[in-house]
Amino acid sequence: MPALIHSLGHLNHDVKLWKHNLQLSRGIRRQSVVTDGDFTFKPGENRYLKQIEALHLQVFREPLPRWLVWLYRFRARQLIGLALDGEDKVACYNLFMFQEVEYGEDIIHELYVAVAPQYQGQGLATKLRCYSLEAYDNGRLNGVSTLAHHTDIKALRSAQKAGYAITKESAKPPALYLYRQFMRKF
Ligand SMILES: CC(C)(COP(=O)(O)OP(=O)(O)OC[C@H]1O[C@@H](n2cnc3c(N)ncnc32)[C@H](O)[C@@H]1OP(=O)(O)O)[C@@H](O)C(=O)NCCC(=O)NCCS
Repeated sequence: MPALIHSLGHLNHDVKLWKHNLQLSRGIRRQSVVTDGDFTFKPGENRYLKQIEALHLQVFREPLPRWLVWLYRFRARQLIGLALDGEDKVACYNLFMFQEVEYGEDIIHELYVAVAPQYQGQGLATKLRCYSLEAYDNGRLNGVSTLAHHTDIKALRSAQKAGYAITKESAKPPALYLYRQFMRKF
C-alpha cells in the first residue's frame, strides 16, 4: 500500500509538471530552419520522436521519462531542437522544459543535449545549442539554464561556447548550473 501511494504521488507530480509545461511553452520558440553543410537545424516534430527516444537510450543508457515523451508529443515544435543529417536522420537533439524551481522567472531549461556517436566531436552540440538559444531569444523569456557535471568537459565547453556561464553549484543533482541571459525581453 505505501508503494502504491508513493507511485500515485509521483504520477500526480508528473501530471502537474506536464500541464504547466504545456501552458508555459505555447508559441515560445521561433520556428526558423537553418542549413549548415550536410546538416539541417530545425524545431522538433512528432515524426522524429521515436528516433530521439532510441538515440537517448543509446547515449544515456536510460529511457526518456514517460511524462516528457507525452509533453513532446504535444509540444515538439516548441521544446525540441534538431540537427538532421543528409538522410533526414537525427544527428543531434536538445530537449527543453520549464523546471518547477524556475516557474515565474521566465527561464527555459535545456534538459538534455546528445549527439549520435558517429557525429560526436565535430562541434555539432555547440551549433545546435547556438541555434536553439537564438530561437528562444525572441523577447518572451529572460534566459535559459542548463546543468553539467563537473567532469563533463565536452558538455561544459559546448555550453560555454553557446553563451552559457557557470553561475552556481546545483546540489540536487550535484552539478554546475549554467545560465545565459537573453537580450531582447519586451
Ligand atoms: C556532450 C556532447 C553533447 C558533446 O557533443 P559534441 O558535438 O561531441 O561536442 P562538440 O564537438 O561541440 O565539442 C564540445 C567542445 O568540447 C571540447 N572537448 C572535447 N573533449 C575535451 C577534453 N577532453 N578536454 C577539453 N576539451 C574537450 C571540444 O574540443 C569542443 O570544443 P572546441 O570546439 O573548442 O574544440 C556529446 O559528446 C554527447 O552526446 N554525449 C553524450 C550525452 C551527454 O553526455 N550529454 C550532455 C549532458 S545532457
